[in-house]
Amino acid sequence: MKRAILFVMSVFLISLLFAFCQQAPRDYMQETKAEKDARMQWWRDAKFGMFIHWGLYAVPAGEYQGEKIQGIGEWIQAKANIPREEYAKFADQFNPTQFNADAWAALAKEAGIKYMVITSKHHDGFALFDSKVSDYDVVDATPYGKDLLAQLKTACDAHGISFNTYYSILDWHHPAQYVDPEAKNPRAGHGKNKIYPERKQEYLEYMKTQLKEIISNYDVGVLWFDGEWQDWWTKEDGIELYNWLRNIKPSLIINNRVGAARGGMSGFDKEEGHAGDFGTPEQEIPDTGIPGTDWESCMTMNDTWGYKYFDDNWKSTKVLLHNLIDIVSKGGNYLLNIGPKADGTIPDESIIRLQEMGAWLAVNGDAIYGTTASPFEKPEWGRYTQKPGKLFAHIFDWPENNKLDIPLDSKDIKRVYLLSAPDVDIRFRAISDETVVLLPDNAPDEIASVIVIEHTGQL
Ligand code: GLC
Repeated sequence: MKRAILFVMSVFLISLLFAFCQQAPRDYMQETKAEKDARMQWWRDAKFGMFIHWGLYAVPAGEYQGEKIQGIGEWIQAKANIPREEYAKFADQFNPTQFNADAWAALAKEAGIKYMVITSKHHDGFALFDSKVSDYDVVDATPYGKDLLAQLKTACDAHGISFNTYYSILDWHHPAQYVDPEAKNPRAGHGKNKIYPERKQEYLEYMKTQLKEIISNYDVGVLWFDGEWQDWWTKEDGIELYNWLRNIKPSLIINNRVGAARGGMSGFDKEEGHAGDFGTPEQEIPDTGIPGTDWESCMTMNDTWGYKYFDDNWKSTKVLLHNLIDIVSKGGNYLLNIGPKADGTIPDESIIRLQEMGAWLAVNGDAIYGTTASPFEKPEWGRYTQKPGKLFAHIFDWPENNKLDIPLDSKDIKRVYLLSAPDVDIRFRAISDETVVLLPDNAPDEIASVIVIEHTGQL
């Protein structure tokens, strides 16, 4: 009897101890500003990221059954109403033998890019990594048969680029989800995406297993969600997923599209208690940034995310660089997209632009990385960025009289010089409590010449 009591008591004590040692999951929706600042720092400093949309849609490359399909390339399954089994056959032709992970990471590095965000699984449901819970992935379903994310992760590490992934909540392949052809979805121009309610749990588990695979195999720093605008994905689903992920890896940075109802431009409405660390304006730059919030504008170089062989509406390097500077001057990050081809190569047009951006950043990067938003309103001639003790004037339009007015007291100015010629002083003089900088006759850089104003003032 005594022994029995002793046994029961020790079992009780051991379970108590066990329960005590097991940490209760933390609610990461409650985080102090200091905690968030520390977690976000690398991302805030990075400024310039590379978005990569790559998947089976690169095979049709915008054309289906001889017809050029309207709209963004990665949406071809929906836009051309391709049945799921038909679309899946593109996997037989997905054979990126020219893919060179090291060359991709080297290009990102050369472009001055600090972090990469690649589609691990887009709306089509096809995974670029070896998922144990699906055969619909590059390793199991294609002649290529090798894990693309694993190769890129290794290459990014070697080149000092942060490796991160996009993941779509919407899934046109998973059997739990279906398209209701009756219900019109203005986004898709085809039926509305739904989930069988009795299979939602199954899908959530599938998604979590894949996300866990991604976190543990590729140690991503950012998870970039998308496809959250479905009726069946709720704000609570977003909060639950956000907390679940950060309990696995507390340092994770997660975009706002983890939560339902993106709405508006940035879709970032902390007041309403949505999960997510940063807003994601798409194809646009908010006029005055999004004050008090982290944000990242994602944009394409032409008009599509996924490769379309006939989209040649390329933006110039000048436009892309001005976008970068504009975004940074408003306190945001720039996530610039490339859409690689099915053979594993990156379109030449993208490569050239990235290299040209990199050449500018190699000279002027100090005025971009680690800076914060302009302390002043947007000047007519360009943009400002700043760091403690330094104000950077990015001149897009060189003033005809070669004079630049700076709203700083000249008593507070230590030195003025071009970032491209840091040893040569540029003269300035006081005009009441402001300063006029006497610029050289010609703009040294056609795209943006950066003047550094070293000062002791409080901006
Ligand atoms: C949209 C599109 C998607 C693309 C994304 C990038 O949500 O549905 O195809 O991946 O934007 O921000």
